[in-house]
Amino acid sequence: MDSLGIIKVESVHWYVHDLARTRRFYSELMDFAELGESSPELTARGRQRSVVFNANDVTLICSAPVGEGGRAWRWLQKHPEGVGTINFLVKDVEHTFRLLEARGGTIIDDAVQRFTDERGGTLAFFSITTPFGNTTFRFLQRDGYEALYPGFVQHPQPTGGHNRFGFGKIDHITSNFRTLAPMVLWMKHVLGFEEFWNIQFHTEEEIAKGNQHGTGLKSIVMWDPHSTVKFANNEPSRPRFKNSQINVYVEDQRGEGVQHLALLVRDIVPTVRAMRETTGLDFLGTPQSYYDYLPERLVKSGILRIDEPIDELRDLQILIDGHQEHQYMLQIFMKEKSQLFKDREAGPFFYEIIQRKGDKGFGGGNFKALFESIERAQAAERARQGAH
Ligand SMILES: [Fe+2]
Repeated sequence: MDSLGIIKVESVHWYVHDLARTRRFYSELMDFAELGESSPELTARGRQRSVVFNANDVTLICSAPVGEGGRAWRWLQKHPEGVGTINFLVKDVEHTFRLLEARGGTIIDDAVQRFTDERGGTLAFFSITTPFGNTTFRFLQRDGYEALYPGFVQHPQPTGGHNRFGFGKIDHITSNFRTLAPMVLWMKHVLGFEEFWNIQFHTEEEIAKGNQHGTGLKSIVMWDPHSTVKFANNEPSRPRFKNSQINVYVEDQRGEGVQHLALLVRDIVPTVRAMRETTGLDFLGTPQSYYDYLPERLVKSGILRIDEPIDELRDLQILIDGHQEHQYMLQIFMKEKSQLFKDREAGPFFYEIIQRKGDKGFGGGNFKALFESIERAQAAERARQGAH
């Protein structure tokens, strides 16, 4: 299938309630730089104020309503804060437009929108609707366009942070659905993406044993093989469909949407240590039993040896997964924004921090390992009590 000509994810556009707390989160805690903001004219016209944050190849545009009626306001009437648009940089935006139109993509703009900056550079883009809720995709082409975005004013010097945690780029974008098939078929037939990976968690046996922890999910990763842009897509699975974390997300978000962005780092141990020590940002906890059984799991999974001392991973609660000798990935999940901000309306989105050392997976083994480590620790506890 002819490629859309995607180069990369150019940026992710957020709708937020409060720019002051958004600034504090990205500039002060995540150490992103702030590149610029919407001009007073654009702010008035769009009835939203927007700020651009950046760390290496991760660019985020955050828009908050000014009065009523703008897109951010409309989004926030329906949903908590969330990802409204994913922007893709493409080689030839007209080509992308024609391909999408021919394949049944639903284009929002009448035609490709064109803008020129002071130096004569051009930026051209158009947007489409998607099968996930109110989130749209936008395809942009830049030819010598050095300004941020049309109607934005670049700060003379970036303000805010300096990316001391070393975020590199977005490794993958994970979204939750009540049913996966429309998204998967759309990504295949309209976008020309291919299936990269899939996994299903069967916890029925555990539930049959009376365990209360088990809930399932089905996950399919679709990718654009040309750019390697990856989308992980989840749906809840039965039994206990309603208790699945995927279903809970869709309820909390009041719709389907982006659940997490995985930020790629080169060295996760110092990154997470610095984040924990200096920011107070909170991560999902990992049971100690996960690390008690880790040596055994490394043998079983075939990873055999890792460079990081297990005690250090235990201390920072970093997870590890892989299938081949000395090839693995390390990951950790931050708490949901609603928990970090102590506000339901901040939404159920969270960031994942990921480092890859040869493994191309998404940490599927960790679901099972976390589950089993809890089970085994409980069994050990029962045996200990029985012995007394
Ligand atoms: Fe992930």
